[in-house]
Amino acid sequence: MTRFADKVAIVTGAGQGIGKGIALRLAREGAQVVIAEYNAAAAEAAAAEVGAAPYPVDISDVAAVHRMVDEIAARFGHIDILVNNAGVAQTKPMLELTEADWDRVLDVNLRGTFFLIQAVAQQMIRQLPAALRAAASAPADIVRVKPAADAGPERESFAASYGKIVSLSSVAGRRGRPLQTHYAASKAAIISLTQSTALALAPYRINANAVCPGIVPTPMWEKIDEERGRLFGSQPGEAMAAFINTVPLKRAATAEDVAAAVAFFCSSDADYITGQALNVDGGFEMD
Ligand SMILES: NC(=O)c1ccc[n+]([C@@H]2O[C@H](COP(=O)([O-])OP(=O)(O)OC[C@H]3O[C@@H](n4cnc5c(N)ncnc54)[C@H](O)[C@@H]3O)[C@@H](O)[C@H]2O)c1
Repeated sequence: MTRFADKVAIVTGAGQGIGKGIALRLAREGAQVVIAEYNAAAAEAAAAEVGAAPYPVDISDVAAVHRMVDEIAARFGHIDILVNNAGVAQTKPMLELTEADWDRVLDVNLRGTFFLIQAVAQQMIRQLPAALRAAASAPADIVRVKPAADAGPERESFAASYGKIVSLSSVAGRRGRPLQTHYAASKAAIISLTQSTALALAPYRINANAVCPGIVPTPMWEKIDEERGRLFGSQPGEAMAAFINTVPLKRAATAEDVAAAVAFFCSSDADYITGQALNVDGGFEMD
């Protein structure tokens, strides 16, 4: 399949786990993928495996994010897809969380994701046909009766979509987590950020959606298992097995399960879908 031929995609945190699965899927379907990853060695190794370009970056560093977007746009000419996958988690009781714990999780998962979305959206808008950019330049407002982008006789000559932004939320964004309060708050905020982004960028025909995975065995889950082991004395693998038992489909997700949903949102099949959050969780949550 070459659904993403000629598309340039940035996937953050793609040095391992779910992000690497997403990078592989997009690359197999023809995209030129940039692996924007904090761990430089992991970025190199994953890029070699995927056939992608490595870009070592800390997404919570806003200046570095702007440099990256400018360099990728200069090198490839355009950016068509952004997958906000980089994230950090920590398992610790709510009453023991420190400011440093809170800031680390929110700085990467929410602040970093927001400023990367903003920088890439600015680039996607620079790439638009001038007539659409001009028509769409008024601020988006949900009470606007007739969006500016839809005014004018040339409306139908524009493509259905000029960019896709997909962000990794979590089932932890759907319901509170007393042992992951900061993580769950960041993931709930990703759903809101996705909705605001979808509304702000709809006049430019740029789509924003979110995916909410359930349990995916990755290095993140190994850390969760270890942290739960320290808190509850459970053996490695026990916490994950207990969680899987609560999943209607009775298995964990694979990175490929999540990548399939992300690829759908990145594809033209999802041109008319924006502002949505899709659970990929074996039926664990149903809202
Ligand atoms: N594994 C799960 O069960 C699960 C469930 C729901 C949601 N998620 C979400 O999916 C995403 C990927 O999860 P995963 O399990 O593959 O995690 P992981 O910890 O295995 O991989 C995350 C990657 O992000 C990179 N990263 C971390 N901070 C970064 C930063 N500041 N800048 C750039 N890169 C950074 C890490 O180096 C790592 O390569 C995360 O957003 C996570 O919250 C995971």
